[in-house]
Amino acid sequence: MSTSAAASSTVTAGTSDTLDNIRIGRVDSYRKLDKIGAGAFGDVWKARHRRSGKKVAIKSVRASGESLLREAALLAACTGNPAVVEFREVVRDAKKDKLYLVMEYAGRSLHYVMGERRRDGRPFTEAEARRVMKRLLGGVEIMHGHGVVHCDLKPANVLVGKEGSRGRGRGRVLKICDLGLAKSSTVPLPSPDTSRPVQGTLGYMAPEQLMGDMDGCSTPVDMWSLGCVMAELVSGKPIFKVEVSVCEHLAEIVRLLGVPDEASQMPLGVSASTPSQLRDAVPEEFLSMAGFDVLRGLLEFDPRERLTAAAALQMPWFTVEEDDDAPSPATARP
Ligand SMILES: Nc1ncnc2c1ncn2[C@@H]1O[C@H](COP(=O)(O)OP(=O)(O)OP(=O)(O)O)[C@@H](O)[C@H]1O
Ligand SMILES: [Mg+2]
Repeated sequence: MSTSAAASSTVTAGTSDTLDNIRIGRVDSYRKLDKIGAGAFGDVWKARHRRSGKKVAIKSVRASGESLLREAALLAACTGNPAVVEFREVVRDAKKDKLYLVMEYAGRSLHYVMGERRRDGRPFTEAEARRVMKRLLGGVEIMHGHGVVHCDLKPANVLVGKEGSRGRGRGRVLKICDLGLAKSSTVPLPSPDTSRPVQGTLGYMAPEQLMGDMDGCSTPVDMWSLGCVMAELVSGKPIFKVEVSVCEHLAEIVRLLGVPDEASQMPLGVSASTPSQLRDAVPEEFLSMAGFDVLRGLLEFDPRERLTAAAALQMPWFTVEEDDDAPSPATARP
């Protein structure tokens, strides 16, 4: 792919019409402020649009310009989804011959917010976790309805914006970001960058993703990840260790959920009669029975049995009216 097209022209990707149609602006339209994200795969800066004064986030990726254009195309395909970070444009630094993705600046990550609240001794209550989950499930339902699967949902890829003006401080705006690994059944795109050793983030990856069935990876992988996010919200810590190997993680899933039929032959060192330990990991003190029903449906080993976003939102935890100001069992923890 050539990334040396003139500024404000159209890049020739050569692999996909979708990428060909993304217009490229100029990086010097923005003034870089602080670096807000740095990972193995790229960097993100807070920046300001010089003319409008609007705050934005600018992302670079170490992989090819095509990866960045792919992510831009997916983000653009999610335009109108209130739970996905808004795509602004792709810009190019002519001197470095490098492309950047420009998005709205959407606040701190949920990972950061959870850590901050844990340190302050103010973990999320069950009612707060329900509000977060309702928004995320609503956003993911729309995403899936448009044929987009995120494939890397986790607290670091959810942004928590300023409170809205309605609802007495309940209007935190949540936006999903980082569509670097996402897939679309409607937008024709090249495959995601396969130089990443693992296509996702271990602690949030569904069993079928861990087993490397990338073609079989569809909307249920996002539902599993949302189950991991939900467990972390109510219990205050990740349900699965993040820094383990694929095999160790699979074994941990089976230890926690019990042995599903298909996996009983796997050499994971667990007996076929292992019962689910999920309720011990997320006890009633943190999550009511109605909430646990949702969690269990999301953390279902078999993707065919796993809750969809639409089905999850129909469950009593979300539909039965409750006084969200009532103290939650989660606030009673030591
Ligand atoms: N639009 C945005 N507004 C505010 N912060 C953002 C935005 N996009 C990204 N960030 C911040 O930058 C971090 C990294 O962004 P992103 O996840 O897109 O990059 P990445 O390199 O693909 O990350 P990783 O591979 O570690 O998941 C996010 O966790 C978030 O803190
Ligand atoms: Mg990320």
